[in-house]
Amino acid sequence: MPPPTPESGSTALPPANVLQGKTALVTGAARRVGATIARVLHGAGASVVLHYRSSAEDAAQLAAELNAARPGTAQIAECDLLQVPQLGALIDRAAQAWGGLDILVNNASTFYPTPLGDITEIDWDDLVGTNLKAPLFLAQAAAAALRERQGLIINLADIHGVRPLGRHPVYSVAKAGLIMLTKALARELGPLVRVNAVAPGPVMWPEDGLDPALKEKIAARTALHRAGTPLDVARACLFFAAEAPYVTGQVLAVDGGRSIGW
Ligand SMILES: NC(=O)c1ccc[n+]([C@@H]2O[C@H](COP(=O)([O-])OP(=O)(O)OC[C@H]3O[C@@H](n4cnc5c(N)ncnc54)[C@H](OP(=O)(O)O)[C@@H]3O)[C@@H](O)[C@H]2O)c1
Repeated sequence: MPPPTPESGSTALPPANVLQGKTALVTGAARRVGATIARVLHGAGASVVLHYRSSAEDAAQLAAELNAARPGTAQIAECDLLQVPQLGALIDRAAQAWGGLDILVNNASTFYPTPLGDITEIDWDDLVGTNLKAPLFLAQAAAAALRERQGLIINLADIHGVRPLGRHPVYSVAKAGLIMLTKALARELGPLVRVNAVAPGPVMWPEDGLDPALKEKIAARTALHRAGTPLDVARACLFFAAEAPYVTGQVLAVDGGRSIGW
């Protein structure tokens, strides 16, 4: 038998009913990491509201998949998160879906380079708008509902919210703000609501492609010598939701050791 590879660890998850009776709103849930988070929370028993902006078809397909597994447990909700006046309605929609809101996952994001010299106010408004401003106003709108159910918020930060990513100053600043927002909200929303963040390293490459040599370089500078997966991030979200009643204001790096790298 070949020796186990580092990737071949168990994919077993906590019991399928640990989040039974809970409702989760996951932003940017139609595709990529957000879809995996939604699948994993749903697989643990939660009902899920899948937020999307432009990926209507993917969102509908995912809802159909989840409803096929457990009828009546997934809904979709469209919203452009840059439209702050509409965020209250998104939260209301989620809280009314099954009569309450337990988990808000701020996953939606934009990510692209903004080299100094070329930064526009549009870049700032978009990157800060999705990665920081929307999570704040969603949290504010959700506070009462989350208090009622002693719920939690999970923010998707980034290891580059602590160490800036080259050519991405605006994104890095926005994620740094999200890390502070996580801690500030944990104070403001305690004792009834917990607020934590997951800070992924490379878990899913951008869709516009990345030079293979750069991917190899990143992996080489990661203690576990490989990229992670969306499931690694989703498992950390499940940990906060199901296994961490005395944890708040924390940022968990899910990065294979990239942030202790060299
Ligand atoms: N991928 C990684 O390796 C990695 C590494 C570090 C941190 N992260 C963080 O983990 C999270 C998920 O990563 P990802 O790569 O899966 O994210 P992503 O694909 O870049 O974005 C997720 C979703 O955000 C939504 N979105 C963007 N702008 C929006 C807006 N104005 N209003 C509403 N929704 C909007 C999009 O939904 P629609 O498609 O419906 O428009 C998109 O599908 C993000 O917060 C990201 O910063 C990821």
